[in-house]
Amino acid sequence: MRISMIGTGYVGLVSGTCFSEFGVTVTCIDKDAGKIERLNRGEIPIYEPGLDALVTSNAAAGRLSFATDLGPAVADSDAVFIAVGTPSRRGGGHADLSYVYAAAREIARAMNGYTVVVTKSTVPVGTGREVERIIREERPDADFDVVSNPEFLREGSAIQDFMRPDRVVIGAESERAQAVMRQLYRVLYLIETPIVFTTLESSEMIKYAANTFLATKITFINEVADLCEKVGADVHDVARGIGLDNRIGRKFLHAGPGYGGSCFPKDTLALVTTAKEVGSPLRIVETVVDINAKRKRAMAERIIDACDGSVVGKTVAILGLTFKPNTDDMRDSPSLDIVPALVEAGATVRAFDPEGMDEARKLLPDITYGADAYDVMTGADALVILTEWNEFRALNLDRVKEVLKAPVMVDLRNVYNPTDMVAAGFRYTSVGRPTPDA
Ligand code: UDX
Repeated sequence: MRISMIGTGYVGLVSGTCFSEFGVTVTCIDKDAGKIERLNRGEIPIYEPGLDALVTSNAAAGRLSFATDLGPAVADSDAVFIAVGTPSRRGGGHADLSYVYAAAREIARAMNGYTVVVTKSTVPVGTGREVERIIREERPDADFDVVSNPEFLREGSAIQDFMRPDRVVIGAESERAQAVMRQLYRVLYLIETPIVFTTLESSEMIKYAANTFLATKITFINEVADLCEKVGADVHDVARGIGLDNRIGRKFLHAGPGYGGSCFPKDTLALVTTAKEVGSPLRIVETVVDINAKRKRAMAERIIDACDGSVVGKTVAILGLTFKPNTDDMRDSPSLDIVPALVEAGATVRAFDPEGMDEARKLLPDITYGADAYDVMTGADALVILTEWNEFRALNLDRVKEVLKAPVMVDLRNVYNPTDMVAAGFRYTSVGRPTPDA
């Protein structure tokens, strides 16, 4: 089997590489010549654990290559995946599909013999049909099927998620297209991964319904955390207590500063907009979007409260800037709202993130960056854990107390145990958990 993967962003690069690991011959294509050059030299443009080694070994085995011109690769392919970006269009929640449609036209011109054209990017319901129409318009004689195959991988555990998914969703309506997709995912059949075959529309809808449901689950536990604080309950125990009910499930019940990243904020907004437009509003998701936006501002207030109500003239040390650990991705990270709010309130902010600082420097230019966790907290009036990188879970607390000006810690990821922190002499605040009196 041979495939082309159009777009070497997160999803494209990881999926292309993993398919090559499955034994498929893959060409990853991107218009950005610099990026392709770097990939050809073995330099990986994103931080994703394990990706580096997989790219190198599959490229060496001749199964994975990179190109800027889609023509020759597409002509040779059994399937062509569209994994280009679908950013939010300015002035509304709609996904911008211009890259998807442009790719469809180019693919149409290059196709040779029966080809399955697969949308891998998260695209609104109806996009697959439009891709079909565009290809037919461009090449009335073409022999092809359009398939929707949304990707559910998470940043930071992308390889594992792709190789051992909970399920694969495939919107493929012809026997012929289904057979090609079955062949591509052959390895997953061996490990008995459920494969859901459905229509184009249902498959597209599944991706949005999954992401908005998860965003809702997180937002639910975040609100329950706030309530726990008022009534003296512990959200950690509550999450465990409800999550052990299989109907609820334990995952995505971790209270924190609000969800971020490249998917949840964009997808919740896109689905809300579509739903309104077709006259079937998703009021729950509308509320989720609203609560999550407000939550990030509320987290800045929480930090200010921990600093006795004012950060004017104070230094706040921030650990973690990316939207989650094990990624260098800053897209829609809660830090992008929380840090500016602190600066606006008069704080001097010093921050450290293991992988996100290059990007952060561009997005948050008004703060200073340190060499490591202890560097930024030395002399600071408060320490805030914003992203739960492993290295922040294992801080030397004696040293932390020694270098901080005041032993104030705001743990927005509930990494530490409140009782232990108070016993260690900290003024400790977390999310949804009572802090015992000193
Ligand atoms: C998400 C989906 O999980 C994935 O299936 C989809 O393909 C892309 O979007 P990703 O954005 O990489 O993946 O990260 P994820 O681990 O889902 O976390 C998203 C956000 O939710 C992060 O900001 C994270 O900190 C937050 N989160 C997650 C919580 O606050 N609590 C949780 O319990 C889980």
